[in-house]
Amino acid sequence: MDPRAVEDGHGQGVARRAVPRHSAIWSPEVIEDIQVKAELGHYRIRGFSTLRKRLPGFDDLTFIPSSLSRMPLEGYREKCVTETRLGTRFAKNPIVLSTPIAITGMSYGALSRNAKVALGTAATRLGISTTTGDGGMLPAEREASRQLVYQVLPSRYGFDPQHLRSANAVEICVGQGAKPGTGGVLLGEKVSAEIAAIRDLPPGVDQRSPVRHPDWIGPDDLIIKVEELREATDWQVPIYCKIGTTRVPYDVKLAAKAGVDVIVLDGMEAASGASPDILFDHTAIPLMAGLVEAVEALEDIGLLGEVQLIAAGGIRSGVDVAKALALGADACYIGTAALIALNCNKPLYLEDYHALGVEPGACQQCHTGRCPVGITTQDPELMQRLEVEAAAERVVNFVNAMTMELQIIARACGKADVHDLEPEDLRALTLEAALITGIPLAGTDFNLKQIFRGLARGDGR
Ligand SMILES: Cc1cc2nc3c(=O)[nH]c(=O)nc-3n(C[C@H](O)[C@H](O)[C@H](O)COP(=O)(O)O)c2cc1C
Ligand code: SF4
Repeated sequence: MDPRAVEDGHGQGVARRAVPRHSAIWSPEVIEDIQVKAELGHYRIRGFSTLRKRLPGFDDLTFIPSSLSRMPLEGYREKCVTETRLGTRFAKNPIVLSTPIAITGMSYGALSRNAKVALGTAATRLGISTTTGDGGMLPAEREASRQLVYQVLPSRYGFDPQHLRSANAVEICVGQGAKPGTGGVLLGEKVSAEIAAIRDLPPGVDQRSPVRHPDWIGPDDLIIKVEELREATDWQVPIYCKIGTTRVPYDVKLAAKAGVDVIVLDGMEAASGASPDILFDHTAIPLMAGLVEAVEALEDIGLLGEVQLIAAGGIRSGVDVAKALALGADACYIGTAALIALNCNKPLYLEDYHALGVEPGACQQCHTGRCPVGITTQDPELMQRLEVEAAAERVVNFVNAMTMELQIIARACGKADVHDLEPEDLRALTLEAALITGIPLAGTDFNLKQIFRGLARGDGR
């Protein structure tokens, strides 16, 4: 028999296939995954975000700018306002952003000192806010950031009432889109002596942060927490509440009724410095769907516009921000996009990417502490690769470019303020997006979501 042939089970040689045929169930990724877990003996942990090939999202929407029936604005002559005030419900001193974009909470521990300071410096130059994270406030970050949002997390690692009082806003973290219903993970490689001291935990040992706030047994405790934080900060600063997009209608109503100023909605697309691999791809719902549910929930209880929404998770460009605003968000947070502007996944130090078994462009190794470009590491040598001043300037350039993109879209839609973008400016490109958002499918003029709701109720309304 020809040695290149394989046995067909009937003693006949069959020519080998030139093109390998992969099973859809047992794909090469699944086979590799099982083999890795068979060696490890536990679940896989990694950084970055979901690796799903497709999720319903903002790419399924398109703008329908002005033409004859509506007048566009002139880019070079007519103003298009981007200023955004967050916390106008109760806070005496709301956060004022020059553009509806802010830097999300990323812990000092997951990120290096240089990355934290570069993000703070960039935020100050841009006139936007940045946020602390699990592990508390880094003094150098406070110094670099004019507007700093202080996270209150279940772990309380590094929690300091003095830091709380020095904050410009407080964010109660209930959950994250990347890993809702679970706590944080910081692998021992990143727990340097300094990080361990801040968190009051032993160095070099894996840290798993708790998922539940220690003093909560139910949603009513959020009301008490908000009151405590208002008193501790003398009603001066906004109180945010961050949730993953899971049970959005209930959670948004509970948080709004508990008296927060701002709800941060963190979608399924959101990243993490380290998480069990399965959570990225199999928990939460896409940001677009969560945002629509949040807007409807606030409308239901008459608090739309009073309680503000920050959309987070997978925000990549000014167009994404424009779509989030059109769907009802007041601002967006960026995490991964800011890290990429810092240098994440940049083709530098190739040998170090290869040592981690990855290529730039497909690196998800934030959890290892061996970040080749000095962003998610506590190794002094690697960290030096991120030059603070130049890194901050790249983030400034990127956010400025995003703002210009946002204004291009708003002006084209005839809006003198980016916050005037609305669902009517959009059309859906897929049936899925039309059903999720209620925005008419391109080429139609009816709201599929309303029709299906009517059918489900059986009243045809
Ligand atoms: C390196 C890293 C560290 C993070 N640390 C925290 C944290 O300490 N607390 C928190 O609430 N979220 C944390 N997050 C999640 C972000 O706040 C945010 O929800 C997410 O990055 C948004 O998605 P995006 O990265 O696609 O913009 C972290 C994310 C990254 C990438
Ligand atoms: S380059 Fe650094 S920050 Fe980016 S994915 Fe890799 S390890 Fe994470």
